[in-house]
Amino acid sequence: MRLEGKRALVTGSSQGIGAEIAKLFAKEGATVVVNHRSGKTHHETVVRAIKKAGGKALAVHADVSDPSSVTAMFAEIKDKVGGLDILVNTAGLADRSLWNLSIEKTSLDMWKRVFAVDAFGTFLCTQGAVKLMKWGSSIVNVASIPALVGDKEGLVYASAKGAVISMTRMLSKMLAPKTRVNCMAFGSIATTWVDWLGKDQAEAYRSAIPLGRFGKPAEAASLALFLASEESSFITGQVIVLDGGEAPR
Ligand SMILES: NC(=O)c1ccc[n+]([C@@H]2O[C@H](COP(=O)([O-])OP(=O)(O)OC[C@H]3O[C@@H](n4cnc5c(N)ncnc54)[C@H](OP(=O)(O)O)[C@@H]3O)[C@@H](O)[C@H]2O)c1
Repeated sequence: MRLEGKRALVTGSSQGIGAEIAKLFAKEGATVVVNHRSGKTHHETVVRAIKKAGGKALAVHADVSDPSSVTAMFAEIKDKVGGLDILVNTAGLADRSLWNLSIEKTSLDMWKRVFAVDAFGTFLCTQGAVKLMKWGSSIVNVASIPALVGDKEGLVYASAKGAVISMTRMLSKMLAPKTRVNCMAFGSIATTWVDWLGKDQAEAYRSAIPLGRFGKPAEAASLALFLASEESSFITGQVIVLDGGEAPR
């Protein structure tokens, strides 16, 4: 198993890509902390599935955009798990209200709302995690291809992911050689995000992908596993694109 004996926190793992990462890491031998925010029961389903498959997991509540909530989460992790070897910063905010907007209709409040989760949340969780991490640890961040190549939609969202990419590059140098820091930049992955796009817009996105389909959360999880594991032991500060060939090179 590729993560035997490792302890991993996956933020935003109550559903979507994060849930798939949590399940794969547990299958590969890690003890996984499933972070959830909304209080809905999805996280229980994820933890139950991991345990049923013979894996180790516990759910820890925290809103990654709230400093006191993040502090409480890491205190609980220290108490119950002892330390951390892997952090995946999956928690992100993207909803319909942030799409199809001109710059005139884009408000400062939107910037604060999205940056609070994607950028500040990534910072706060990284800050908490490094205190619990030892030599050989790995941090995997999550961004999106418009942050690299631009798009007509999602200005605020892509800008927050741009901050995550800059953080990845900075922290890979600041935390070396103890901790590697890399980032996954996804194209369109089939989660709730595709559901709320609507049929026509989803089809427009799909038809722009050379491989002719949306990515699967399991494919995103495979990349996270590679970056979290020893298989990527000489890779740090990189942004790896997983997009079916969509972004112009
Ligand atoms: N799907 C795509 O095509 C795509 C493309 C590029 C990048 N991404 C990125 O990949 C990541 C996962 O996306 P997804 O499509 O799997 O999203 P999703 O299905 O909407 O899941 C988002 C997850 O983030 C959690 N979350 C949101 N705000 C949070 C907060 N303040 N604190 C803690 N957790 C929070 C949610 O928890 P609750 O359910 O408890 O609220 C949920 O588990 C995000 O960072 C997203 O931006 C996705």
